[in-house]
Amino acid sequence: MSVCTLTRTRCCCCTALECCSTTMAAASLSVDLDFTRRLPKIELHAHLTGSISRACLHDIWMSQKRQQPDLAIEDPLVAIPSGKVDYDVQTFFPLFSSYIYKLCNDVASIEFSTTAVLHEFQSDGVVYLELRTTPRAIAEHNISKDDYVRTVTHLLTAHNEDTSNTMRVFLILSVDRRNTLAEADEVIDLAIKYRSSGVVGVDLCGNPAKGDVRTFTTAFSRAKAVGLNITVHFAETAASATDQELHTLLSWQPDRLGHVIHVKDEFRAMIEARNIAVELCLSCNVHAKLITGTYSDHHFGMWRHSSVPVVLCTDDVGVFCSPLSAEYHLAATNFDLDRRQLKQLAERAISCIFMGSTEGGRLRNIYSTWEV
Ligand code: IMP
Ligand code: ZN
Repeated sequence: MSVCTLTRTRCCCCTALECCSTTMAAASLSVDLDFTRRLPKIELHAHLTGSISRACLHDIWMSQKRQQPDLAIEDPLVAIPSGKVDYDVQTFFPLFSSYIYKLCNDVASIEFSTTAVLHEFQSDGVVYLELRTTPRAIAEHNISKDDYVRTVTHLLTAHNEDTSNTMRVFLILSVDRRNTLAEADEVIDLAIKYRSSGVVGVDLCGNPAKGDVRTFTTAFSRAKAVGLNITVHFAETAASATDQELHTLLSWQPDRLGHVIHVKDEFRAMIEARNIAVELCLSCNVHAKLITGTYSDHHFGMWRHSSVPVVLCTDDVGVFCSPLSAEYHLAATNFDLDRRQLKQLAERAISCIFMGSTEGGRLRNIYSTWEV
């Protein structure tokens, strides 16, 4: 073992000077959007309907308008103006319930939008995606929640079977906080039924001002008991960060936590002690004013120095318009990360995927041959 003359650090994997100078050269190359697009990335927190771009919603609207000239739904380019990203907790959730769900309400629009979402993540350099969605019944088109999940899993399977695709995609089914226990149980049943078709876990999402998470304890316990992975939206707002709520959510033994904003030291310590991975979404949190301040104030700055795996995610790229490559770029510019550190950040997410060893091996191969 020798000591590098430049950094005075020990190096055991090669001759010290070579190793450190290579590292320093890679580090000194600037991080630009071209780099963050090329960087192989792992996306673990993306809501399917929230990931549909405005352009895609507009295409759906045009097609429906052609078939139904009296369609009483506003053009997405008017309803969700280009450049508008300042959706907060009050305006964000109604955007889905009062608008996007009314537009994406038949098999054709679900298929078209899901295909577009997969294409956009892949084009952005995502090599592994866990998409999440809330099973939705659409009575006017005779679509059951089972039909909805089957439709989405078929598309994901077809995507994965196409060997020209560089990204693999799996599905997480979400329970909405407004659900009843019976509805949550139905989501768990669907997750179990479609496990062999690519469903890898379950999530708790929805408006953090609504619902009592204790309602769902038996449903999530059942999911855990059958070996489904669990991720939950955790401490997204002060109202959804009471001690009682956070203790309840942790009692479900989640494998990952989303957002993790309003956590006291006591909960941080529990998360670290259990080594639970955190899914952090910079743009969403800043635009929705879930955090005070701006990017440089984001709790990514705190969690990245903790012992738990930190995964950068988009949440709702269709609404907040920042693809995963842009999130990595924001992390680099606001937290002074170099190319090597960004690659390490991206690669560490392998340890948090719900798909396990086959995909883990494929991803490790990708990173081992990818030069910064
Ligand atoms: P879907 O589940 O594919 O229909 O995606 C949209 C849904 O995801 C919304 O209706 C919300 O329930 C949920 N969602 C999206 N972003 C967030 C978030 O930041 N917090 C909680 N729920 C969210
Ligand atoms: Zn989310």
